[in-house]
Amino acid sequence: MQISLTVNGKNYQVTPPPMKRLLDVLREDLAWTGTKEGCGEGECGACTAIMDGVLVLTCMVPICQAAGKHVTTIEGLAADGKLHRLQQAFLEKGGAQCGICTPGMIIAAAYYLEHPDEAEDIGEALAGNQCRCTGYTRIFESVKAASSLYSIV
Ligand code: FES
Ligand code: FES
Repeated sequence: MQISLTVNGKNYQVTPPPMKRLLDVLREDLAWTGTKEGCGEGECGACTAIMDGVLVLTCMVPICQAAGKHVTTIEGLAADGKLHRLQQAFLEKGGAQCGICTPGMIIAAAYYLEHPDEAEDIGEALAGNQCRCTGYTRIFESVKAASSLYSIV
């Protein structure tokens, strides 16, 4: 079964088993390894990406459901050789604490900045993204620093 999808603006045709996880297609078939696996059970948010404008947990999406869709991963946020303001803020404020949760945190935060009405605050916006080690203070500070340019917090 051939499946067409767009990832970070590039068009692909892939022929994986139809129930192969989008997460694995991204990482193994298409070499977009920025999206990470944490729990693999839809609980931690590490694998978060944006598909047709909606946040998805790529460990829970069979590739057959991504046919014809546009997927944005952490690698798709930077533009014209410049980091997205969230990526820059995570660097400057120390929010990039580990390589597993950070991509999903930034993707969820990017969605929040574009859809500020869908969450009460940063905490609610990132409620689906777990940090299992260091804590959320610097992560929230990073999102707040980036969001100040949007005047939403
Ligand atoms: S790896 Fe997908 S939610 Fe944890
Ligand atoms: S799990 Fe990534 S910083 Fe805690």
